[in-house]
Amino acid sequence: MSLSDVAELPFVHEFPATKYMGSKSRLLPFICGQLDKIPFESVLDAFSGSGCVSYALKERGKAVISNDFLSFCYYTAKATVENGVTLLSSTDVDFLTKKNRRAKDFITKTYSGLFFGEADCEFLDNLRANIGQLQDGDKIALALAAASRACMKKRPRGLFTFTGRKGWDGRKDLKLTMREQFLAAVDVFNKSVFDNHQENKAFNCDVFALDAPPVDLVYIDTPYVSPFSDCDYTRRYHFVEGFCRNWEGVEIMLNTKTKKFRSFETAFSTKSTAENSFQRLFSKFKDSVLAVSYSSNCIPDKKTMVGLLKEVKKDVRVFSAQHTYSHGNHQHKVGDNNNEVAEYLFIAQ
Ligand SMILES: C[S@@+](CC[C@H](N)C(=O)[O-])C[C@H]1O[C@@H](n2cnc3c(N)ncnc32)[C@H](O)[C@@H]1O
Repeated sequence: MSLSDVAELPFVHEFPATKYMGSKSRLLPFICGQLDKIPFESVLDAFSGSGCVSYALKERGKAVISNDFLSFCYYTAKATVENGVTLLSSTDVDFLTKKNRRAKDFITKTYSGLFFGEADCEFLDNLRANIGQLQDGDKIALALAAASRACMKKRPRGLFTFTGRKGWDGRKDLKLTMREQFLAAVDVFNKSVFDNHQENKAFNCDVFALDAPPVDLVYIDTPYVSPFSDCDYTRRYHFVEGFCRNWEGVEIMLNTKTKKFRSFETAFSTKSTAENSFQRLFSKFKDSVLAVSYSSNCIPDKKTMVGLLKEVKKDVRVFSAQHTYSHGNHQHKVGDNNNEVAEYLFIAQ
């Protein structure tokens, strides 16, 4: 099946899509098309990333649990999937953007001139202080998710792996002030909020530490080891992750150009640990139907993955679609054959 053969999967509600690495937004027609054939009421999106898969499943009326070990992904899922009613009002927005005399200058001092200019960094310092004064968990999630989106929109390809004007192509998104981006992001997040009359929940855990209620189906989309990408999500998104955590509990490496912090470890990121990690993961969720997104250029290969799934499930089916990723690192350029991959969905029950 080619992706051009399937119609776009329109969201009824407006999901705040981003250029998140590995986002399955363009593959949703393929993924949901297969999942729609399976009866299930509840689902865990164990590596939720941008949140687009969780959101599509919420729209399909499922009781959705989202999880990601990055906080900024968690806040996006909490704002759009768990939250069904709360919005940021104009009074909230006035509160969030008003001058706060107690605001610190950490972002301005540490990051001015790296990703954004001084005025944008001052706005973020002030916003972070005001978010810290909010009491309502859903409003905090909406504000942090909107701030993360604003920062990513103001970066070429949404990344924090390089500094200065590299990739600066003059698009309007790059020219808007951070305040303008934040106000636009609040609007988009507010529009995404809807109630599907289920108890949806977001978690922020390493998947192996996750203690979520049992579900009918687990959707798995881990970082994948491939010869073309280091799949290090922390390195790409450290700035927004730091913002959401208020840089607490992270170890900033001040000698690096990007002032990134040490990446969170994940067992899925190296060749030597990936296979064993999948084995542990499939065993952890063996009582649910497993739906696993995978690509033809990943390690371990398809045959090994099917074998691992067969250790815990009787029936393993492989569905595939062609997909061209437009978002690689420098070794993995747009237009290379390496970007042409077969996307798999393994369904094990
Ligand atoms: C391929 S992305 C998921 C993309 C997502 N399905 C989407 O459509 O946007 C993999 C995600 O796994 C998260 N992750 C990596 N290791 C993890 C772990 N050990 N536990 C939980 N989440 C993890 C990363 O932060 C990243 O967001």
